[in-house]
Amino acid sequence: MIVTTAALFRVAYGKFAIGAYNINNMEQALGLFRGHIDAQAPFIIQISKGARKYAGIPMIEAIIRAAEQMYPQAIYAVHLDHGDEQTCYSCIDSGFYSSVMIDASHEPFEQNVAITRRVVERAHARGLSVEAELGMLGGVEEDIKVDEKHAMLTDPDEAKLFVEQTGCDSLAVAIGTSHGAYKFKGRQSLHFDRIEAIQQKLPGFPLVMHGSSSVPPEEVARINAAGGALDPSARGVDEDELLRAAALGVTKVNIDTDGRLVWTRVHREYFRDHPAEFDFRKPGAVFVDEYARFIVHKSQKLGSAGKLEMVRAALS
Ligand code: G3H
Ligand code: 13P
Ligand code: ZN
Repeated sequence: MIVTTAALFRVAYGKFAIGAYNINNMEQALGLFRGHIDAQAPFIIQISKGARKYAGIPMIEAIIRAAEQMYPQAIYAVHLDHGDEQTCYSCIDSGFYSSVMIDASHEPFEQNVAITRRVVERAHARGLSVEAELGMLGGVEEDIKVDEKHAMLTDPDEAKLFVEQTGCDSLAVAIGTSHGAYKFKGRQSLHFDRIEAIQQKLPGFPLVMHGSSSVPPEEVARINAAGGALDPSARGVDEDELLRAAALGVTKVNIDTDGRLVWTRVHREYFRDHPAEFDFRKPGAVFVDEYARFIVHKSQKLGSAGKLEMVRAALS
């Protein structure tokens, strides 16, 4: 059942976080739905501009509809990840999405406000909610490169002003994470002092954490042992910090890189161990199993595992 993102946030806020996962293909969708049924967890499916281009818009939507038929128990929202203004309008008008993200965080504050406001007006008129972004994550976002040195944490006063001026429904905040596999040097933590300061200015308002993959070192090591060449210094977010962030209002946690690592590890190991094999369904089936297992694990770390029936009751 596709539900509104706002409804999921109402149930989860301050208690647990909803995992938001990007999908691009059938195997990811199968693992995502199966994993969330196994975990009995609600979730958010994210579709990026890149995914819409890769699979094709009708195909990505059909994959989700088909997965829903196979897993009718599932409760989830469909969200545009890192949209520009035109892509937001296209998703709002399509009638398929629960919410959109307008990412104008690379623009000066006033322009970010103006663009976000326009998207909010159009989205609210159609009953969708809007995630906006303020502050800059390090790393790579779509085609925008933000130098690590210039990555800026979100300013709590600006965050309050931004939410008041735009009417957005949730806010992606820069609190120390970045996209991709190379987030931190050595052991680093989320900036909990900053999350707390933002929550004090915006009590009850859902915050979103992008760049939340944990980049497990054992996954990187297995990929490299099977012929990969990832930098072994790759580091991600400590999974044990996710629930602490959720208690401070981080209600949506975006995870994509970790799933890509599972895909890469499974396929590299499979073809290393079966060099004469060329039936891609065999590693594909292994990936679906492994991805579902990964989703169960993440749902436990996010606190969303076991919440499905409670969410169903709250929404009915
Ligand atoms: O933050 C971006 C997500 O990881 C999606 O990546 O734009 O390559 O689909 P993508
Ligand atoms: P990761 O690269 O840490 O998985 O972040 C994904 C993300 O923020 C998608 O919007
Ligand atoms: Zn992101």
